[in-house]
Amino acid sequence: MSFSEFVDGPFWYFSATVFVIGVLWRLIGMLSMGSKTDYSVPRSSGAAGALGINIKRFFPRSDFWSRIKLQVVAGYLFHVGLFALLFFAAPHIEFYREYVTGFGWTALPEWAFILVSEIAFLGLLLLILHRLMNPVTRMISDRGDYIGSILIFLVMLTGCLALARSHEALRVTHFFLAELLLLYFPFSALMHTFTFPFSRGFAGAHYGRRGVKV
Ligand code: HEM
Repeated sequence: MSFSEFVDGPFWYFSATVFVIGVLWRLIGMLSMGSKTDYSVPRSSGAAGALGINIKRFFPRSDFWSRIKLQVVAGYLFHVGLFALLFFAAPHIEFYREYVTGFGWTALPEWAFILVSEIAFLGLLLLILHRLMNPVTRMISDRGDYIGSILIFLVMLTGCLALARSHEALRVTHFFLAELLLLYFPFSALMHTFTFPFSRGFAGAHYGRRGVKV
């Protein structure tokens, strides 16, 4: 079996299975932990607090804004760009149609795909540089924070190299790195993709019941 057959076949099924089972395992584990019953009389609704904080936290608190501008702007550039290129770029939609969903949807034009890719790159590079150069983030970052960022950077870089669709080896390298990312995902902080609404909601419900304004 050649390397490209391995990447297109068994390794794809293996990494996709680890990703799906790993993510479900972590989510079910987290949700079944439960929490201690709160016997205090609620001052306000916990559910409303959970929902409210989920929406409000998309925007930073004004008290913090001047200190975290860079992370917020770079964070949005990266995440919105990544979302657009992952779900609305023609080659990726083609991939989902063939391997996952069986159907496709409208894609961005090629120029817009390239533009959102550049935007995502800019955001990611700023975030990595900020993590490295800011004394506080540098101190609280561990190996996992860098591995996730560098892996996604390499997937994006090889995606750019595959844009011309001129060499099969470039497509296979891009796909292989995306599979490594799928394997790493459930065991890393990248899980925040799925867990962030729950962690925000947990804090929001806690404060909501106590009538704390967030
Ligand atoms: C700058 C960002 C990216 C660009 C420019 C890009 C570009 C491309 C291109 C041009 C292809 C088609 C290759 C071909 O058919 O020859 C492709 C396929 C693919 N990309 Fe990306 N990509 C990017 C990011 C990502 C990311 C972040 C992921 C996953 C996390 C990803 C996963 C895939 C997969 C699974 C395929 C299918 C490979 C195949 O059909 O063999 N890409 N990408």
